Amino acid sequence: MVAVVRVHKVGGPEVLTYEDIAVAAPGPGQIRVKQHAIGVNFIDCYFRSGLYPAPGGLPFVVGHEAAGEVEEVGPGVSEFKRGDRVAYVQGPGCYAAERLVPAERAVKLPANIGYEQAAAMMLKGLTVQYLLRRTFKVEKGMNVLMHAAAGGVGLIFCQWANHLGANVIGTVGSKEKAALARANGCHHAILYRDEDFVARVKEITGGRLCEVVYDGIGKTTFPASLDCLRPLGMFVSFGASSGPIEAFNINLLQAKGSLFATRPTLNTYAAKREDLLAMAADLFAVVGSGAVKIPMNQTYALRDAAEAHRDLEGRLTTGCSILVP
Ligand SMILES: NC(=O)c1ccc[n+]([C@@H]2O[C@H](COP(=O)([O-])OP(=O)(O)OC[C@H]3O[C@@H](n4cnc5c(N)ncnc54)[C@H](OP(=O)(O)O)[C@@H]3O)[C@@H](O)[C@H]2O)c1
Repeated sequence: MVAVVRVHKVGGPEVLTYEDIAVAAPGPGQIRVKQHAIGVNFIDCYFRSGLYPAPGGLPFVVGHEAAGEVEEVGPGVSEFKRGDRVAYVQGPGCYAAERLVPAERAVKLPANIGYEQAAAMMLKGLTVQYLLRRTFKVEKGMNVLMHAAAGGVGLIFCQWANHLGANVIGTVGSKEKAALARANGCHHAILYRDEDFVARVKEITGGRLCEVVYDGIGKTTFPASLDCLRPLGMFVSFGASSGPIEAFNINLLQAKGSLFATRPTLNTYAAKREDLLAMAADLFAVVGSGAVKIPMNQTYALRDAAEAHRDLEGRLTTGCSILVP
C-alpha cells in the first residue's frame, strides 16, 4: 500500500483525502516510480473542483507533475531501468508516494537537476518553453506581458523571457510580489489590483504596446488584455485562475487590431515523444546554465495537500510549490 491524495467528491480543498491504496506491478510500456517530490499546479485545483472532469471518473488521485526513481519496469520497456532518475508531466495521478507512469511520458534527469527542482519545473517549465519558443517566438527587444508574474509559471517565464532579451512586463497582486518578479527578470511590475494595467502598459511601452500577451488569469483580465496588444499582436490565453473567459464575438479581434488569439495546452505541444524530449532538453539547458533558476518557495508534506491548495487559490504563494511524500 502507498500513500496518495485522492478526490472522492469534487469540491474545495477539504475534499483532498490522504489515504493508502495498492499500486499494481507495471504493465506493458509502464514504469513504477518511487516519487521523491511532486509539483503543485493550478490545474490540480481545476480537477479537484470539478471545472475539468477527471478522465477516469471518481475517485482519482490528484496531480500532474513529479520526479522520482524507477523501481520496476514493465514488459517492453527498454529505455529505462531500475534506479533511473526520472520526471514527467502525467496526470491526474501524481499526488502519491509511488505510481505507474507510461514510460513514453518520462524523461531521464541530468545529474545536475535535483528531484525537487524537477518536480517543481516539469509542467511549469515545459509550459514556459512552448509559450516562449513555439506559441509565439519571443525575440530580443519585443514587449511581452505576463500576468501573475510572481507565480509558478510567472517567475520561470520572467527569467527565460529576460534571458531571450525581451522587455518583460508583468502584473502582480502585491508590492512583495512586485519585488520578487523584478528580482527574477521582470523589467516592469504592475500592481494590477490597484493600477489600470492597460494604461500602465501603454505608458511603459511609450504607446507601442506588446507583441504578445500571456494570460493565465482569464475572467478578470479579459478583455482588457487585448488592449495591451499592438495591431496583429498575439493573445495567448493559457489558463483561468480567476475563472474561465465567457464566450465572445470573434469580431472583437478585428476591432482591436486584427489580433491573433490562441488557447494552448502543454498536452498538445508535448504530445509527440520527440517534442517532449526536445522541450525537456531546452528546459534542462537553461536551468543547467543558471539562466533560469527554479523558485521552490513552498514545501508541504503530501498529507498537507489541502493546505497547499488553499494557499495557491488564496494567492498566498509565489513561485513553485512542492509536496514531499
Ligand atoms: N495551458 C497550459 O499548458 C498551462 C500549463 C501550466 C499552467 N497553466 C496555467 O498557468 C496559470 C498559472 O499556473 P500556476 O500553477 O503557476 O499558478 P500561480 O501563477 O502560481 O498561481 C496563480 C496566481 O494567479 C493570480 N490570480 C489572479 N486572480 C486570481 C484569483 N481570482 N484566484 C487565484 N489566483 C489569482 C495570483 O497571483 P497575483 O496575486 O499576483 O495576482 C495567483 O498567485 C494558471 O492559470 C494555470 O492553469 C497553463
